[in-house]
Amino acid sequence: MPGVAGTRSGLTTSFPYLPLDAKGWRLAMGLRPLDLSTWFEIDGCYDEEMALKATLLKDSYDVVVATNPEGDEASRELLAEVRGFLRTYHPGLAPAVIEGEHPIVEASRLVQEDLCVLVRDDRWRLRAACVCFPSRWSLAAKIGTTLDDIHSPVPLYGEVLARPTRAFFDRLTPERSYWRLNWTLLDSPVLHQPFGARTSPRGGLADWFFRVERQTIRQLPQTKAIVFTIRTYVASAASLRERDDTFIPALVHALESAPPSVQTYKGWTGVAQQLRDALARNE
Ligand code: HEM
Repeated sequence: MPGVAGTRSGLTTSFPYLPLDAKGWRLAMGLRPLDLSTWFEIDGCYDEEMALKATLLKDSYDVVVATNPEGDEASRELLAEVRGFLRTYHPGLAPAVIEGEHPIVEASRLVQEDLCVLVRDDRWRLRAACVCFPSRWSLAAKIGTTLDDIHSPVPLYGEVLARPTRAFFDRLTPERSYWRLNWTLLDSPVLHQPFGARTSPRGGLADWFFRVERQTIRQLPQTKAIVFTIRTYVASAASLRERDDTFIPALVHALESAPPSVQTYKGWTGVAQQLRDALARNE
């Protein structure tokens, strides 16, 4: 489905991705080649989200930042790469710089994306991250752990994705980068959601928000660390329905076609039926 406009915090902003597959939900790596000119996406929410990051870094630093010394060198390289990206593609942007911060925090204050650095020893491990907009997971629990450990709560990941994801990370080169999309439905538009059980969204269509993560994966040329970025887009389900007649039927199909374990993990149990009922009542 093509992207459409959405609303958040009263602002009309771009909502560029609507990753609902006509074939229904399936667990897949879903990687596509990334043009590095689009490594980061800057849009009309830039100032608002930078301000939100600044508040979170002031009030909840230990929730949104986690680093190991093993990630320091790669974080410095990441910061230099982010600065280079902005100089090349967004020369008009002049974000505030706070001297003396960890380089991953400095880098994170420049772009709307959340940033993660993985370094290989015996395995690929998360060694530095600034994640202000997590979708109900705790960064502190993941720092220092492997790709497999990070994904341990994800149903079917071990059976279907663990091996290809490890192999993909081992084969990645600085010459070719990738991106993928992930989505869910929540009952809150708040970007910073570090805690909370993945219970089914409360209320009905009017209270629900479609949340899309655009993730990029790139190997840095010098340290050979891998940078994983997460950009979060949120739009109200009602606004997406208004703009695209196929949104709700595609959503119902996707929700229903996910296996029960995935429905439980994502907090989708019963949601498709609620949507069907709402449609039947012509809401
Ligand atoms: C090719 C690479 C990757 C693939 C295919 C992948 C795939 C997935 C999938 C399918 C989920 C389930 C999420 C959902 O559907 O809502 C997930 C969750 C997650 N992924 Fe990844 N992922 C990849 C890389 C990474 C990396 C590098 C990180 C590093 C931080 C990461 C962090 C997470 C976290 C924190 C979750 C939530 C886990 C939880 O519920 O505790 N992923 N990933």
